[in-house]
Amino acid sequence: MSQLALFGGAPVRSRPFPAWPAFDASEERALLEVLSSGRWWNGVQAFQPGSSPDAPSKAAEFESEFAAFLGAKFALVCATGTAALEVALKAAGVGPEDEVIVPPYTFLATASAPLLLGAIPVFCDIERETLNLDPAKLEGAITGRTRAIIPVHFAGLPADMDRILEIARARGLFVLEDAAHAHGAGSRGRKLGTLGHAGIFSFQGSKNMTAGEGGAIVTDQAGLAELCNSYIWGGRLPSRPWYEHYRLGWNYRITEFQAAILSAQLKRLPQQLAARMRNGLRLNERLAEIPGISPLAIPAWVDMHALHLYIFRVDPQAFGVSRDQLIAALQAEGIPCSAGYSHPLYRNPMFLDQQFHGNGSPLAPPGIYTDFLQYANACPEAERACQEVVWIEHRVLLSPPEEAEDVARAIGKIHECRGEFRPVLAE
Ligand SMILES: Cc1ncc(COP(=O)(O)O)c(C=O)c1O
Repeated sequence: MSQLALFGGAPVRSRPFPAWPAFDASEERALLEVLSSGRWWNGVQAFQPGSSPDAPSKAAEFESEFAAFLGAKFALVCATGTAALEVALKAAGVGPEDEVIVPPYTFLATASAPLLLGAIPVFCDIERETLNLDPAKLEGAITGRTRAIIPVHFAGLPADMDRILEIARARGLFVLEDAAHAHGAGSRGRKLGTLGHAGIFSFQGSKNMTAGEGGAIVTDQAGLAELCNSYIWGGRLPSRPWYEHYRLGWNYRITEFQAAILSAQLKRLPQQLAARMRNGLRLNERLAEIPGISPLAIPAWVDMHALHLYIFRVDPQAFGVSRDQLIAALQAEGIPCSAGYSHPLYRNPMFLDQQFHGNGSPLAPPGIYTDFLQYANACPEAERACQEVVWIEHRVLLSPPEEAEDVARAIGKIHECRGEFRPVLAE
């Protein structure tokens, strides 16, 4: 009789892990307060009876709280993490034909933001141990056109910012940290997002802090913050009349409902970070005991890993079944997991077909882009990660320690029962 749930056995878990997003009465109260105040919009709403144009908006309040939490001078909220990347790069002066170095193992936005400004993403491979931009390969990706580097703290694990910043400083390059996964994570005594010239965050639905959608830019540079603010507010200036526009910008504001939720989410974040870290470290120990399973490294420069994803590698020979069989079996055992990205970014049809801008777009002089498939040779670790790793959703790590260990129990069970896959494969 089968033991694996995939073949009809009893699953390790029949109860669900904690739901995401997490919320309680504080989000409900915050939403109702905004609703009944009538100030739903993050702007000066002079037409609202009883509203005071001088009262800080919920968005402004959250900006102060988030900046203080991170230890940054300025935090600016905006519509999405993608918008934050675009705005920060534009404020840094990135424009047509500039090159921006990005890792290929990340969400599209890290590379599409430069493209939306007419710049060219240049892919630099990741480290096998961390899945973050490999500083050893960074210099080789820099050319005379390079303007900026976007290290991604993938899954919330801090990239080696000291080495990246040293290389960037020597060349005068702008460093924008993509901390979309890394709210509250820290490295060498500082919070992520505050180590580079600027950092961005996402508050999209899956992220460790969320308002459904949302983003933020953080920086210590007053001039950069002013420019970002202007771009988010349609090119306006805070002290000038509403219908005066000084530069080409966007409307990338968030609503007061989102900002109110984010303030409530921020209060819960430290306790969630501690729970994820405690359970993640414990799982690292337990998984390292299973043949063919290797959790990612937590290098010495990491103070806090945000564990937006818990990631491990599978060696199918040593484990006994393929990575994709393990994922199917784990899901059947009640563990929410996936293979993550099926290919590095540059293999998306958008890159292979160079579908970036319409004909005649002033942003895209014909012929400036390279053949993106060349990166398949230059980025073996990104290629490999897409074949070898398993992602587990962060909400799993928000359960009590005994329950989070079900992940290790389920993987151990699949390894022990690996023989059950053979007859099925032979059919
Ligand atoms: C690494 C990374 N950067 C940027 C983004 C963009 O954030 P958003 O979805 O808020 O636009 C994401 C979103 O998934 C992400 O994972």
